[in-house]
Amino acid sequence: MITREAMLRVFLTAITIICLRLAGVSGVNIIDGTVAVPHSRPYIAFLIITKERQLEMCGGFLIYPNVILTAAHCKGKAITVILGAHYHSKNEKSQQRIPVQKMITHEAYNDMTLENDIMILKLQFNATITKEVKTIRLPSEDDHFGPGTTCLVAGWGLTSFPGNSSNVLREVAVKIKEHCNSASEICARGIDKKGTCYGDSGGPLVCPGRNNIPTAVGIVSYMNRENCEDSHGSDMYVNVPAYLKWIKSKIGVSCSG
Ligand SMILES: *[C@@H]1O[C@H](CO)[C@@H](O)[C@H](O)[C@H]1NC(C)=O
Ligand SMILES: *[C@@H]1O[C@H](CO)[C@@H](O)[C@H](O)[C@H]1NC(C)=O
Repeated sequence: MITREAMLRVFLTAITIICLRLAGVSGVNIIDGTVAVPHSRPYIAFLIITKERQLEMCGGFLIYPNVILTAAHCKGKAITVILGAHYHSKNEKSQQRIPVQKMITHEAYNDMTLENDIMILKLQFNATITKEVKTIRLPSEDDHFGPGTTCLVAGWGLTSFPGNSSNVLREVAVKIKEHCNSASEICARGIDKKGTCYGDSGGPLVCPGRNNIPTAVGIVSYMNRENCEDSHGSDMYVNVPAYLKWIKSKIGVSCSG
């Protein structure tokens, strides 16, 4: 059995290799999923992250017109957010490109263990809410998303391993598992090898909330397995309900700014 630390090292090394291969974009893609109906997930953001030597990619999601939630390991020197995208590198009319004004990573984020892998991005200006760009509901304190709940995860990450990232948004159904969840993390996986891969980091785990309203319950964080196509192990998500107070404390006053 590999330790969490060894597993993470694999994860981070692989990201670097993939970044180089993609010569421009990086981050965890969807394995064995399907192409999303264009703009059916209007809260999804494509993040272009400027690192020291290269650009990387991540997912994220719009929770207020000027606030994106993503994974802390998607931090960089600068981030540009693309909303309303399906084919991210095409000049789609629906797209809105907004630079990030401020990155707020969790104070207790640990880049070795990926604990508290959560980050808020304040946008330089508000997104315009359109048919293709909308916010997603956050869970409320009394929502319950137990083991066995079927949720969806979407992203532009790798579609095979080794492999390439996807030009178009892809999605896959996964189920919240038993036993491996903790107060701060949710683990989930689809049938066989269905799940996330490099490039999908930061995207939302979307589960049916009250009245079946799509609700952002998790944030793609890391894989608890040797590689994306290994059918054993889980995808690990930040448990959003555990961070509601933290999120509110960071955006409470200044989200109108
Ligand atoms: C990845 O893309 C490159 C360049 O388009 C292509 O040559 C290669 O076959 C692709 N790899 C996979 C595994 O699809
Ligand atoms: C921007 O969005 C926030 C909510 O996130 C809202 O409170 C504020 O009024 C908006 N600002 C403008 C200029 O529309």
